[in-house]
Amino acid sequence: MPATTLLTGISELVTNEPATVAGHDPGGAGAIGAEVTGADRLGLVADAAVLIDGTRIGWVGPAGQAPAADRRIDLGGRAVLPGFVDSHSHLVFAGDRAAEFAARMTGQAYAAGGIRTTVAATRAATDAMLRANLDRLRREALASGTTTIECKSGYGLTVADEARSVRLAAELTEEVTYLGAHVVPAEYADDPAGYVDLVCGEMLTACAPHARWIDVFCERGAFDPDATRQILRAGVGAGLVPRLHANQLGPGPGVQIAVEFGAASADHCTHLSDADVAALADSGTVATLLPGAEFSTRSPYPDARRLLAAGATVALATDCNPGSSYTTSMPLCIALAVREMRMSPAEAVWSATAGGAAALRRTDVGALNSGSRADLIVLDAPSYLHLAYRPGVALVRQAYRDGVETNKAATSSLTAS
Ligand code: NIG
Ligand code: FE
Repeated sequence: MPATTLLTGISELVTNEPATVAGHDPGGAGAIGAEVTGADRLGLVADAAVLIDGTRIGWVGPAGQAPAADRRIDLGGRAVLPGFVDSHSHLVFAGDRAAEFAARMTGQAYAAGGIRTTVAATRAATDAMLRANLDRLRREALASGTTTIECKSGYGLTVADEARSVRLAAELTEEVTYLGAHVVPAEYADDPAGYVDLVCGEMLTACAPHARWIDVFCERGAFDPDATRQILRAGVGAGLVPRLHANQLGPGPGVQIAVEFGAASADHCTHLSDADVAALADSGTVATLLPGAEFSTRSPYPDARRLLAAGATVALATDCNPGSSYTTSMPLCIALAVREMRMSPAEAVWSATAGGAAALRRTDVGALNSGSRADLIVLDAPSYLHLAYRPGVALVRQAYRDGVETNKAATSSLTAS
């Protein structure tokens, strides 16, 4: 691969860097009321070019001002965006729960206990089976434009099974989350406190070297506030950074605990009080919304407009898992956020890129600016608007990761090289 490549023929470039792009065009050429649609936050450049310099972006701006390059690729009037940053997924598992989904669609409610079904299948699987499933899901995610992905453990729930889960996740991504506190496994049903001690002790010691984050499913039927605090405290002591499953199935203390611990993100945020919204808005904790979960559990969606109006930072992610949200598709999440949660297309695209980067405390992804990682996607469409406007259509034509072009059959790992 030549040292520098200039991508030209970009009808519309999403940089997510409104202030720093030379010649940027707030709202894009001909945009209607950018301040109303939120498009001003996307740092749009019409008729743009992007210089890829090795694994990094060397320059972005209007095509007429583009620097020389070793080679040029004409994208033929397509839109280019930062690759999606999926900041919440559970990909280390075996089996599926299609029958549970079918039962829900005929009226049964979602329950956290279904996790134990996947735990049994995961424990019974070989490393090779789990690795093959991870690879299949990684390819799916990349084909729909995800260039950075977070991945949790949480379907092992023994020291050995959680340790292998984080080890396998670390083969996929640098954003690994230890979620030993997903649910209390059946063998600890009579001794939940004993399980919490295991999660904070031997299991944490085995998992921490392979993880960056610690997560707890803080919910009725999973872990209560005292256990959640105990586990987060232990995780922080082991050098992990908190993020939390909070307020998914009902109101509760999760969001407040996330803010109290300075968590990078509170995830789900489906049932929030006014105090929860205010706490998120006044904190550095990102509100990560997972509309695939509400879609697949036929539940009311979170109130994104309330969070945005309060000034909270909102991310969108897939929550890909076999129970509550079996999708790797960030474009689906964008379409749901727009249609069902009343986010503007611009807000949803920002949340799926820059928002996800904020939820992972990453400054090298989620935006396209000189110096950022050369992770970008090319749409088979002239504008980012088509991601919501054309739901269910495979619009991601190509993805570049670390400056290397991939395609649907790509074999490169999502782990940074
Ligand atoms: O984020 N809420 C906890 N964990 C997953 C669901 C896991 C499952 O049902 O297997 C979620 O929705
Ligand atoms: Fe989740």
